[in-house]
Amino acid sequence: MSYSSVFVKLLTLQCLVILCVSQSFDFFYFVQQWPGSICDTKRSCCYPKAGKPAANFSIHGLWPNYNNRSWPSFCNRESLFDHSKLSDLSRMQTTWPSLICPSGNNSKFWKHEWDKHGTCSEFVLDQHQYFEETLNIKDRVDLLQILQNEGIQPDGRNYSIGSIEEALRRGIGFAPGIKCNKDASGNGQLHEIYLCVEKTGSKLIECPVLPRRNCAQHVEFPAF
Ligand SMILES: *[C@@H]1O[C@H](CO)[C@@H](O)[C@H](O)[C@H]1NC(C)=O
Ligand SMILES: *[C@@H]1O[C@H](CO)[C@@H](O)[C@H](O)[C@H]1NC(C)=O
Ligand SMILES: *[C@@H]1O[C@H](CO)[C@@H](O)[C@H](O)[C@H]1NC(C)=O
Ligand SMILES: *[C@@H]1O[C@H](CO)[C@@H](O)[C@H](O)[C@H]1NC(C)=O
Repeated sequence: MSYSSVFVKLLTLQCLVILCVSQSFDFFYFVQQWPGSICDTKRSCCYPKAGKPAANFSIHGLWPNYNNRSWPSFCNRESLFDHSKLSDLSRMQTTWPSLICPSGNNSKFWKHEWDKHGTCSEFVLDQHQYFEETLNIKDRVDLLQILQNEGIQPDGRNYSIGSIEEALRRGIGFAPGIKCNKDASGNGQLHEIYLCVEKTGSKLIECPVLPRRNCAQHVEFPAF
């Protein structure tokens, strides 16, 4: 090996190290959404081609975050989303459906999640690993079952936010983050549940910081 090629190797290594440091993050938020709380809004929703998704929490995304509450986004515009790499993950169609109008195009939703969030953890999880790990985490916590075990049902009634949080904490073993939105008539409702995952994407952890809650004392849990 010539000196110049050693020099180039060293340079490349240094650049990689700098890249890794600058692209680092502290943990992931794993975010699930209640479809009923998207479809009953003023904006409404559109079902994917496969039809109405199950009445179950579905995945919104796996988002790299910093301990100081901010987060990186769109970390690598060159890293293109490739749907064909996910052909063995067909269960994404049911657990990670797009409810966005007008298209109901799942692929477009996943591409957005990859471009905005996935590219920021690419040095830990490549595209296939990123989506697969997200599905694996989802399989490990059945939010709906946990809530139903404590009598909290998607029946359009109001529940105290404290009882929802406590049920989830007991069932999961970690405190959840909860986000609310408003239905078409302006009532506050349970919208998203945030859990935290350590950097390699494999294990749930206690959240270093919880997202700021924007819920009233009592919120609706709408049917879907
Ligand atoms: C939060 O921490 C990250 C990583 O250390 C840093 O790049 C970012 O500037 C910080 N943001 C704020 C608002 O402090
Ligand atoms: C769905 O979205 C993907 C990614 O943006 C795009 O390539 C594809 O053409 C879209 N399909 C339809 C039917 O619009
Ligand atoms: C809801 O999703 C969980 C995975 O998070 C799954 O185990 C459960 O069977 C689903 N329940 C229903 C009613 O579809
Ligand atoms: C839930 O609470 C809101 C605000 O207090 C109220 O307007 C709404 O009618 C309640 N919904 C039900 C089903 O009791």
